[in-house]
Amino acid sequence: MPIYPKVQSRKKSKNLVLLVKSANDLSGLKIAKKNQNVIAKALSSAGSYSQINFGEYLAVFKIGKLKLGKDKEAIRKFAATVYDAASHKIEDLQVESSSAEAVSLFLEGAGLASYKFDKYFTDKKKATLTNIYTTNKKVKIDAVNHVIDATCWARDLVNEPVSYLTAPQLAKEIVKKFKGTDATVEVFEKAKIESLKMGGLLAVNKGSIDPPTFTMIEWKPKNAKNKKPIVLVGKGIVYDTGGLSLKPTPNSMDFMKSDMGGAACMVGATYAAAKLKTPLHIITLIPSTDNRPGGNAYAPGDVITMFNKMTVEVLNTDAEGRMVMADALSYGDKFKPELVLDAATLTGAAVRSIGTFASCVMGNANQADIDQVVAAGDATYDRAVQLPFWDDYKEELKSKIADLKNLGGPYAGMITAGKFLEHFTKSPYIHIDIAGPAFNHGKDSYRGLGGTGAGVRLVTEFLKNRAK
Ligand code: BES
Ligand code: ZN
Ligand code: ZN
Repeated sequence: MPIYPKVQSRKKSKNLVLLVKSANDLSGLKIAKKNQNVIAKALSSAGSYSQINFGEYLAVFKIGKLKLGKDKEAIRKFAATVYDAASHKIEDLQVESSSAEAVSLFLEGAGLASYKFDKYFTDKKKATLTNIYTTNKKVKIDAVNHVIDATCWARDLVNEPVSYLTAPQLAKEIVKKFKGTDATVEVFEKAKIESLKMGGLLAVNKGSIDPPTFTMIEWKPKNAKNKKPIVLVGKGIVYDTGGLSLKPTPNSMDFMKSDMGGAACMVGATYAAAKLKTPLHIITLIPSTDNRPGGNAYAPGDVITMFNKMTVEVLNTDAEGRMVMADALSYGDKFKPELVLDAATLTGAAVRSIGTFASCVMGNANQADIDQVVAAGDATYDRAVQLPFWDDYKEELKSKIADLKNLGGPYAGMITAGKFLEHFTKSPYIHIDIAGPAFNHGKDSYRGLGGTGAGVRLVTEFLKNRAK
């Protein structure tokens, strides 16, 4: 369990973190005189960050203009540094600043940094630091905690191996988590998916020993600002071996339990929206299965009739994400959405093109909507970079025997994958390929080891802003 920060009215802890713009700020914070001098000195000499231990724990950070994404990020990262230095030494920490936003950013960073996936350790080596609070009553503490909770839930889902998290289990986890909200969840099991003729999802599932699931979440508050819903779609491949087009191992297969990172992102963001009571009508769709070779597995050369009746020639069974996403996107059209937004660990090309610092975003929706996604990414530092979405890229998806093939050419695979998906929705569409940032192989500040919850904070922020 990560730390969930609190607002407390009385000062209690000897362990202080101060976020200050200048030494002048300190007067309003009622800091003991002896500390004031130490702090002023730290601020002038250390520049941005100083940590002092004199029996008690004191950390001082000089905050910049919080309008800039990178200045906000500096506070989250500072929080992670403080958490790591203090987590096994002290029990509580009090964070103060005249800026409520600075405190929120610190609490978010510390809460996210405190996350650890320790379910499978017999010796859990618990941190001693379990309580972080502030006396700043302007901090929207519930909002901060909902975002921490949603992100860490998404991380848990990604970190769970397929030995536990099969497609039916993913659906169960979603049902369980949303019991604490006013959103509704419906799970389509295999028979229903068959009767709907979701050919893409069923094809990928053919090599599996577990049935597929298709989970639908609806958050429809009475005060929703949108008449037509926003549809969110997340790739829920609980494990991707590549299928008959098997991935090489050890390398690309060993972290493919993370191939439901898009599903984790969208269920996490939907959960946050429901807890934050974001006034938007949202419908979230999660097509889920694992992708395995097996006696009955779908094969390169197969022609699949998709949910929307289009036919797809399969030329690589490892391009399975687009097969299951396509069906969910077409199903989403039935709700006549004002916007469809998806997240998927869709392509290695996305990782090769911009690395792990950001997701790739593209689409045919209004540029203003795409700009909002990019802006939400900058604000949360759960970043996304826009790529072109020209029709030129469609050419590569022409098949000799079917409407489309599931494989593009050698270049810009993240864009041809996006263009493939575009065929399956008639609604304004934005696609986010989170393959790069979804999984951390090493520790990276507050982003966690393994599952990062990539996209949860971005989509949550995007929805929050859209509801304004
Ligand atoms: N799940 C992978 C994409 C991926 C790669 C995610 C690396 C995270 C990290 C996806 O299903 C896949 O295998 N894509 C293929 C598509 C190709 C066969 C057209 C790829 O990118 O190589
Ligand atoms: Zn694949
Ligand atoms: Zn995949």
